Amino acid sequence: MSAVVHTRRVTVPEIRAHKNAKPIVCLTCYHAHTARLLDEHVDLMLVGDSVGMVMHGMENTLGVTLDMMILHGQAVMRGSKRALIVVDMPFGSYEESPQVAFRNVARVIQETGCTAVKMEGGARIAETIRYLTSRGIPVMGHIGLTPQMIQVLGGFRTQGRTEAEWPAIEADAQAVADAGAFALVLEGMAEPLAAKITRDIAIPTVGIGASADCDGQILVMEDMLGLNPNPAKFVREYASLGRDIEAAVKAYAADVRARRFPGAENVYAMKKAV
Ligand code: KIV
Repeated sequence: MSAVVHTRRVTVPEIRAHKNAKPIVCLTCYHAHTARLLDEHVDLMLVGDSVGMVMHGMENTLGVTLDMMILHGQAVMRGSKRALIVVDMPFGSYEESPQVAFRNVARVIQETGCTAVKMEGGARIAETIRYLTSRGIPVMGHIGLTPQMIQVLGGFRTQGRTEAEWPAIEADAQAVADAGAFALVLEGMAEPLAAKITRDIAIPTVGIGASADCDGQILVMEDMLGLNPNPAKFVREYASLGRDIEAAVKAYAADVRARRFPGAENVYAMKKAV
C-alpha cells in the first residue's frame, strides 16, 4: 500500500459536466504560493505558456520551452491539491506529428503529475488530439486568437470580426470536439461567434475575451490582479496589486534608509528578557 496521502482533485468528467450548467471558473497559475491561494476557489488552473510573457518578460510565447512548462507545472502541482491542473504545450512541442506530441505530453504528465494538457489549433491538430485522447490523455483545445500563431495572424487581433471568417472557425471548434477534447478555450473571438460555437458543440467552452455565454471563463491571474501595466481591453481587474507592491516597496525602502528596521540584536534582547 502507498504511504502517500492522495487528495481528490476535480476530474475531467466533472469539467465536462459543466456543459450548459454552472460556469467553470478558471485562472492561469505559474507558481506554488498562488496555486495554494487559488485552489479552493477555481475549478481549473492552467499553467499557460503566457508564463513566458508574464513571468519571464518575453515579447510573445514562442520562446517558451517544454522544460519551462514542466518547472512551472511542478510548482503549481505542489501548491494545489483540489483544482484540475492543465499544462500548456509550448510552441514546437506537438505540431510535428501525433507521435512527437505523445512523447512530449507523456513527459509533461509524468514529470508534473498534471491531469491534462492544452494545445492551440483547430482542424490542423485534430488528428493529434484524437491520437492523444485515444491513449488516455485528456486534451483541452484552444482556438480563435492563438498566440503561438502570432506571426501569421500579424498581431493579437480578435478573430471572427466578419461573418465570412466564421465557417472556418466553427469547423475548427467542431473538429476539436469530434477529436475528443474535453473542453475548448475560445480566445479573442467575436462575441456572437463564441456564443454560437458554445451552443453548437457538445463540450464546454471557456472564454477569454470571447463571450459571457461561454460555459466558463479564464483570465491570466496577473492581469485580473492588476499587475499588468498594459492589460487587454476585455480584462476586468479585481485588485490593484501593481500599485500595492510599489507602495509597499517604497515604504520598505524608507524604513531601511531611516534605519527603522528590527535587527537581530533586538530579537536577542527580547529573548534575554524572557
Ligand atoms: O497561455 C495562456 O495563459 C492561455 C490562456 C490565455 C488561455 O493560453
